[in-house]
Amino acid sequence: MIQLSERLSANRRIPIPQTNNSVYNASYDIWWNPDALFFMLKTSVNPARMGYFKRILQELPAHGTGKTLLDVGCGGGILAEEFARLGMSVTGIDPSLSSVETARHHAYLQHLNITYRTGAGESLPFADNSFDYVSCCDVLEHVFDVDAVLAEISRVLKPGGIFFYDTVNRTWLSWVFLIKIAQDWKRWAFMKPDQHLYHRFIRPSELTAKMVDAGLINQEVRGMVASYNILKTLYWLRKRTAGKWTFRQLGERMKMREGRDTNLCYMGWARKA
Ligand SMILES: C[S@@+](CC[C@H](N)C(=O)[O-])C[C@H]1O[C@@H](n2cnc3c(N)ncnc32)[C@H](O)[C@@H]1O
Repeated sequence: MIQLSERLSANRRIPIPQTNNSVYNASYDIWWNPDALFFMLKTSVNPARMGYFKRILQELPAHGTGKTLLDVGCGGGILAEEFARLGMSVTGIDPSLSSVETARHHAYLQHLNITYRTGAGESLPFADNSFDYVSCCDVLEHVFDVDAVLAEISRVLKPGGIFFYDTVNRTWLSWVFLIKIAQDWKRWAFMKPDQHLYHRFIRPSELTAKMVDAGLINQEVRGMVASYNILKTLYWLRKRTAGKWTFRQLGERMKMREGRDTNLCYMGWARKA
């Protein structure tokens, strides 16, 4: 990713700094180990976003089985596997080789036929109009060039194809929770410094406008809401930093749900024009 960002910034003079994406290159399993941070994407985040995406899919005239889906920024395959279980033909792509290897191995163990490739969302190695659906979840706040990623997603989608997304809003709440508590204040922190950067968070209105520029027409935005109060959260997080709880125990409690409040995280879907 560092090489990619240097190349792109030389070409387009886009400002850095960038999020610290080195965490995704760990040499051990950071995705499917229940005691790893990113397993919380499965326990805390997947139920909310997959519940929502499944509902949207069911409302579409022809959906699911036999359709092709590309998961951009697939990481260890936590979301890609959910789509594959719906009977779709799934391809996952991620710049992190170690994450892609983890995803491949896990899909093999699960007898899931998913194709995984390494590559960045800014330059997708697929032909125009290749996929019925593209998902890009918990990724847009980490990429170097959001506009380029959206343009590429639109290019590889078939006309009328559907884009599923979720990301982090840029608000005082996301600053307090995801920058200060999650990263900076060591008493509670559970992420590495700079894993998220406040200025990389995207407001729903900004994302909608960027999607229009890319030829993607937004259909809906829904909140991804933390269904637990802040004091309880701080108590749980302290248990983990104090070594009394693992990420597994944390993930079992910190569940997100679909809701109206988009102040922290939000999800939605768009259609290629
Ligand atoms: C928080 S993880 C989300 C993983 C997965 N989408 C999920 O929700 O389970 C962010 C992922 O974005 C990937 N990523 C970072 N920069 C990217 C880029 N430019 N294009 C595509 N993926 C990128 C990282 O390697 C990492 O796997």
